[in-house]
Amino acid sequence: MFKINQITVLGSGIMGHGIAQISSMAGYNVILRDIEQSFLDKAMDKIKWSVNKLVEKQKINNSQAEQIINRIHPVVDLEKSLKNSNMVIEAVPEDLNLKKKVYQEIEKFATDDMIFASNTSTLPISEISAFTTRPHKFIGLHFFNPPQLMPLVEIIPGSKTNQEITDLAINFVQEVKKTPIVCKKDVAGFIVNRIFIPLVHEAAYSLDRSDATMVEVDSASKYKMALPMGIFELADYTGLDVIHKATNEMYSRDKKVILPHPKIQQLYENKELGQKTGKGFYQYQGENYERVQLTEEAAAKFDPISLISVAVNNASWLISNGVCSREELEQALKLGMGLKNPLFNTAETTGIENIINTLKNLQSKYGVFYEPDKYLLSLQQK
Ligand code: 3HC
Repeated sequence: MFKINQITVLGSGIMGHGIAQISSMAGYNVILRDIEQSFLDKAMDKIKWSVNKLVEKQKINNSQAEQIINRIHPVVDLEKSLKNSNMVIEAVPEDLNLKKKVYQEIEKFATDDMIFASNTSTLPISEISAFTTRPHKFIGLHFFNPPQLMPLVEIIPGSKTNQEITDLAINFVQEVKKTPIVCKKDVAGFIVNRIFIPLVHEAAYSLDRSDATMVEVDSASKYKMALPMGIFELADYTGLDVIHKATNEMYSRDKKVILPHPKIQQLYENKELGQKTGKGFYQYQGENYERVQLTEEAAAKFDPISLISVAVNNASWLISNGVCSREELEQALKLGMGLKNPLFNTAETTGIENIINTLKNLQSKYGVFYEPDKYLLSLQQK
């Protein structure tokens, strides 16, 4: 049986540094690679902050914290970063051309037995793996932000991935103490991002189409949809660059899955990328973890029916297209987005007919994106 002896994480941003940390926490020796030393210094500071939080909360002790940090080796030189590793987890920005360039470069130094795993948030694995000589040893390992706290990892085999590699990925995910869910189809956005990314756009439309404020929409997301964060808050936390790139990649492959709102493009162009730049939808004090104040009073002022409808409709699409079962979908939303109430329970409380009528009404005004999915329609007949 293949044994992972050392992992190279490519990219030290929000996802990369977290993946490096949890891999080290599971005992792996990790090389964290980025193109500039300053990026790596910032990533190591974030890892130290997170590890200290875990010590504060008595999840680990001081000596474990020290070992976790010591097992992570920041490296700029690509060739050096790959030496002695037999698994690469790539977490570079979501741009197909950039990924192509990165994989072509790493293939120059990769040994034959090296496994390539991509933390792509939306790109089909079969498309990325086609840039390499090893699509059979290539797999999607999609972590959720913050990887240190979110228990889900979506595993996405491409069309040529060997079963042995999928099994190995499942085993690895369990070793880093996460729950794997294998996507049965390699669709853009996989499971959770097919719900989350379109919701950000829908939340932006709801500001145009109602008198609600961002805090009211976000408070309703939290208190009426059972999300742990508001949708704008979560978008800022994830990064508008990530949302923007994921949007483009999904929209270019499937016009039905997302209806892009110009505000996301605008924030991206203004470099208002969310918490990491001090401004996105909201304004922040600095780069540190910060929450938006959401209240039940504010939630009472906004009816999130259009948000619930869009989420349930995209969830229905995933089920009717065989990407996952309803149980897997609910588990993915619980573990990947912290959803506290199953989505279809919220749908039933809201009323399936109410949701279908809302979608039909939106479809008549704004087009096919809102067309109710056949799985959703089938629930009405029951
Ligand atoms: N490491 C360690 N501790 C951390 C941390 C980290 N990286 N980030 C936050 N914490 C700490 C906080 O500082 C806080 O500590 P404190 O009690 O000392 O203040 C503690 O965790 C709890 O945080 P909160 O008080 O903010 O409480 P929550 O219960 O809301 O938990 C959360 C925080 C886990 C982030 C929760 O709000 C959540 O699940 N949010 C939703 C996140 C989500 O949806 N992620 C997925 C986005 S989609 C994605 O990533 C896919 C990609 O492809 C786009």
